Amino acid sequence: MEHPSLQGAVIAITGAGRGIGLGMARAFARHGARLVLGDLDEAGVQAAADALRAEGASVLAQRLDVRSAADNAALVAAAVARWGRLDVMVCNAGIMQVKPMLELEAADWDRMLGVNVTGVFLSLQAAARQMLGQTPKAEGRPRGKILTVASVAGRYGAPPLAGVMPHYRASKAAVISLTQSASISFAPQLTVNAICPGIVDTAMWDGIDRDLTALQGRPRGEAWRQRVSGVPMGRAQTAEDVAQLALFLASAASDYMSGQSLNIDGGLVQS
Ligand SMILES: NC(=O)c1ccc[n+]([C@@H]2O[C@H](COP(=O)([O-])OP(=O)(O)OC[C@H]3O[C@@H](n4cnc5c(N)ncnc54)[C@H](O)[C@@H]3O)[C@@H](O)[C@H]2O)c1
Repeated sequence: MEHPSLQGAVIAITGAGRGIGLGMARAFARHGARLVLGDLDEAGVQAAADALRAEGASVLAQRLDVRSAADNAALVAAAVARWGRLDVMVCNAGIMQVKPMLELEAADWDRMLGVNVTGVFLSLQAAARQMLGQTPKAEGRPRGKILTVASVAGRYGAPPLAGVMPHYRASKAAVISLTQSASISFAPQLTVNAICPGIVDTAMWDGIDRDLTALQGRPRGEAWRQRVSGVPMGRAQTAEDVAQLALFLASAASDYMSGQSLNIDGGLVQS
């Protein structure tokens, strides 16, 4: 599907050094967007930017810790300094941890929510501060669009992951709620929507498989295979699958949609 409104759009993505963030960056670049990529892994995000530039994209990249309000402001400032505005912010950076409920310590909880919730909040807030003061890209359009990356994990509790990633799941439920509140706060100037992926083939899931199989004393790869075998569409999700929904939510095609959390998970979760 073509998205002509993304041509020349200025799009910032957090956690863009690899995985879903990088997949979205690549898809946006294909549609002619100009990108500002941020990641805690500075070498990783610079390498990602170099690869995208080699494919012809206009890309800035910088180190970003989403837990820092100053870093988020600097990401937005970089977009404005170079291209005069920020059309789309994708709050994607996130972390996982596998640890049984009773073993979780307050520090684990705080770290998880610090990145996955406070980080999304600070990225979203920095973007909104810029977007609310800029003119719409075209008459009748919102002044900007914010996408958050939650997860189907924020929607339900089911074994085995609910018992060993409760803080991750709570963080994703919080992102869904924050997305709803932000959409009300910033309407009608901005749209704010959440993407809820399912089981995506990235380093994050590789880490879940590593830690879960170690915890359960099962062969490496078993947790991944078992989880993927339950996906109705019969395969694991790719970053490109997620990017297809991001393209829609970043484009003019979704201008009347806000406050929504959309599952894109191969039919795994139906709520
Ligand atoms: N992989 C999945 O199956 C899946 C499913 C649903 C939702 N998600 C969500 O999608 C998002 C991306 O996941 P992924 O699978 O690409 O993960 P990933 O681990 O492959 O990539 C995450 C990126 O975020 C960066 N990051 C981590 N902490 C950061 C911080 N404090 N500041 C800035 N950057 C930081 C990492 O350096 C990394 O480049 C996350 O929010 C994740 O929770 C993933």
